[in-house]
Amino acid sequence: MKGFTAVLLIWTLISPSSSGGGSGEAWPTHLACRSGGLEVLYQSCDPLQDFGFSVDQCSKQLKSNLNIRFGIILRHDIKELFLDIALISKGSSILNFSYPICEEDQPKFSFCGRRKGEEIFLGFPFKDLGVNIPRGEYQVLLEVYTENRSIVACANATIISS
Ligand SMILES: *[C@@H]1O[C@H](CO)[C@@H](O)[C@H](O)[C@H]1NC(C)=O
Ligand SMILES: *[C@@H]1O[C@H](CO)[C@@H](O)[C@H](O)[C@H]1NC(C)=O
Ligand SMILES: *[C@@H]1O[C@H](CO)[C@@H](O)[C@H](O)[C@H]1NC(C)=O
Repeated sequence: MKGFTAVLLIWTLISPSSSGGGSGEAWPTHLACRSGGLEVLYQSCDPLQDFGFSVDQCSKQLKSNLNIRFGIILRHDIKELFLDIALISKGSSILNFSYPICEEDQPKFSFCGRRKGEEIFLGFPFKDLGVNIPRGEYQVLLEVYTENRSIVACANATIISS
């Protein structure tokens, strides 16, 4: 627990114009972290809500345990939940990753089973990480969705390691 660079940006906004169709509007870009040679910018790609995001480390040398947290308002009940991550560098796809977060018979996290309308924090602990992010600029697309592909959270981020 020592040496944490705590960046806590926790707020949630709901778009006043939730009628959809207007793809011209984008959510503002937020700075999640900037220190130790690392800069992380993120933007909500869910047309209906912006969200708060925090990481407990901000350095290109990630220590072994990393926690990321999102604050969102649920627009769907969480029964089954899945996370897709895509990592892109210089326009080419490096990695696609899909992970079940909540499954009916084995909920992994405390927020599994929460109901529509509740405000929750999705927290993901990454264990045994300990990586050194190579110099470069990366795009990360992150999508959290339910069993019938209803989007719970969607984010795209830019990670710059110098
Ligand atoms: C998110 O994606 C949009 C559209 O591709 C892009 O314009 C924007 O810069 C991206 N935001 C971040 C923080 O990467
Ligand atoms: C990741 O998925 C995208 C779209 O589904 C695909 O175009 C890309 O080739 C995939 N990348 C890898 C590394 O599998
Ligand atoms: C998704 O499935 C749940 C039940 O599994 C249902 O209540 C909900 O209406 C569905 N949502 C959509 C958009 O079909």
